[in-house]
Amino acid sequence: MQPTIQYKTQKIAYWFFAACMLLFALQLIYGFILGFARMGYDGLHEWIPFNVARATHTNLLVVWLLTGFMGAAYFIIPEESERELWMPKLAWVQLVSLLLVGVVAIVGYHVNWWEGRKFLEIPRELDWLVVVNVLTFLLIIFMTIWKGKRKTTTAMVLFFGLLSAALLYLPGMITFENLTFDSFFRWWVVHLWVEGVWELIMGAILSFLLIKLTGIDREVIEKWLYVIVGFTFLSGILGTGHHYYFTGTPRYWLMIGGIFSALEPLAFLGMAIYALAMARRGGRKAPNRIALMWTLGCAVMSFVGAGFLGFAHTLPQVNIWTHGTLVTAMHGHLAFWGAYAMIVLAMISYAMPELTGRSMFKGWKAEWAFWTTNIGMLGMTGAFAVMGVAQVYLERKGGMDFLEVQESLEVHAFGLVLAAALLTLGVVLFIKNFLEYGLPVEVDSSSNSSGGGSVLATPQRPQED
Ligand code: HEM
Ligand code: HEM
Ligand SMILES: [Fe+2]
Repeated sequence: MQPTIQYKTQKIAYWFFAACMLLFALQLIYGFILGFARMGYDGLHEWIPFNVARATHTNLLVVWLLTGFMGAAYFIIPEESERELWMPKLAWVQLVSLLLVGVVAIVGYHVNWWEGRKFLEIPRELDWLVVVNVLTFLLIIFMTIWKGKRKTTTAMVLFFGLLSAALLYLPGMITFENLTFDSFFRWWVVHLWVEGVWELIMGAILSFLLIKLTGIDREVIEKWLYVIVGFTFLSGILGTGHHYYFTGTPRYWLMIGGIFSALEPLAFLGMAIYALAMARRGGRKAPNRIALMWTLGCAVMSFVGAGFLGFAHTLPQVNIWTHGTLVTAMHGHLAFWGAYAMIVLAMISYAMPELTGRSMFKGWKAEWAFWTTNIGMLGMTGAFAVMGVAQVYLERKGGMDFLEVQESLEVHAFGLVLAAALLTLGVVLFIKNFLEYGLPVEVDSSSNSSGGGSVLATPQRPQED
């Protein structure tokens, strides 16, 4: 199999994906620190206390997903726009600076340099560097689309999703003395990201993958993309209200948040039905079956994790009991996994053979990676569910002391860590598979690149399939 990428600057995506794998592995290490601490084995407490490990775990998650989205954009946009990336050298600078900011932030957390706002712990000084970094990325993507031969719906939705994600980072940078205000705007970032604009990014990548893997006409696939974007905004924007229950905001949020957030699963259900229907209709049998498995898996698991398990605690009558418990962690894990981790892994599975000219997706490793990660994550979700529900009954209904409850949950954390080990086995297989693909090969690009020369020149042994 020969490399099939048409534009040599698409290769920059490989390095974003490689960074992605590294950060993902690190995230899991911190996951285990948390898991063992939950079992009562908090031996690292003096050096890495639970709150530091937790912030590092979730921030690494967000950064590896964003790195994956950026890699996906650098791969997709040249193909959609039919031209090389604009200023590929700048994309390199952007990758290196992104990793630098990430390392500084993580080291900072370990020496107590952070802000205590869940998910947005990065100190304000570093926030500005993030802004510059993301602006650079958006400029490259925008200029490539702008100068490109065509402007497809998929590219526009992807760009709009990425741009809105950047803009929505700003409300999280305002300082408030008042906790209600502070939490009000924190959700503009956290909620409107995962239940708004990140869904557009996911929808666009899904659309790109379905076009490539099912062979169905772009017109059909992109028409549905509009419907999903519409549904996402209709429900997701006012759905923010499900975080405004009992936080000092006016009471009407109970009604608004409850109704609109209860509609949010429809966008995810829409995506699942759409992906499955397209795959059924698709005449072409994609040789890269694994990429299709991740793509369809993503569409289904995002509905289960975000839609179904989100709905489970979104009504105020339920949320009054479950708020901030391990029920939230149960939903948080499967939602992030199904929607965003899986779309990034789908994109990597699709892009690697194209980038390297090898077809490593045929072996058992790639398939086992898919099943063990997914079964492992479902197991973890189950363990969190047991812990969460027990916590609600013991602490909030039974009135047992908070710390006593936490101690009584330790036995269930054992199941969590076991399931996490299965997930980790799958991730190790995925990364091993990734490494076996080797580096991307130099490709003879027939297109004219006005943006600059080759990004990579790595000769690679040809290999038979
Ligand atoms: C892929 C999409 C989604 C992701 C990645 C996601 C992830 C998360 C995470 C990480 C949290 C904890 C946030 C925090 O406390 O700072 C959370 C909270 C919450 N999510 Fe989602 N979610 C998604 C979609 C949904 C949907 C569609 C619904 C409703 C149908 C929903 C309902 C909720 C609710 C009610 C909470 C608050 C829980 C509490 O009060 O402690 N989520 N979500
Ligand atoms: C080795 C595997 C993993 C283990 C053992 C693990 C364990 C944990 C634990 C114990 C927490 C803290 C819950 C608490 O507050 O007590 C946590 C938080 C979290 N983890 Fe993981 N995790 C793992 C992998 C992952 C993966 C792969 C994802 C995403 C795809 C993820 C997403 C999250 C999120 C979003 C939170 C915050 C949840 C919330 O706000 O309630 N974790 N994890
Ligand atoms: Fe939300």
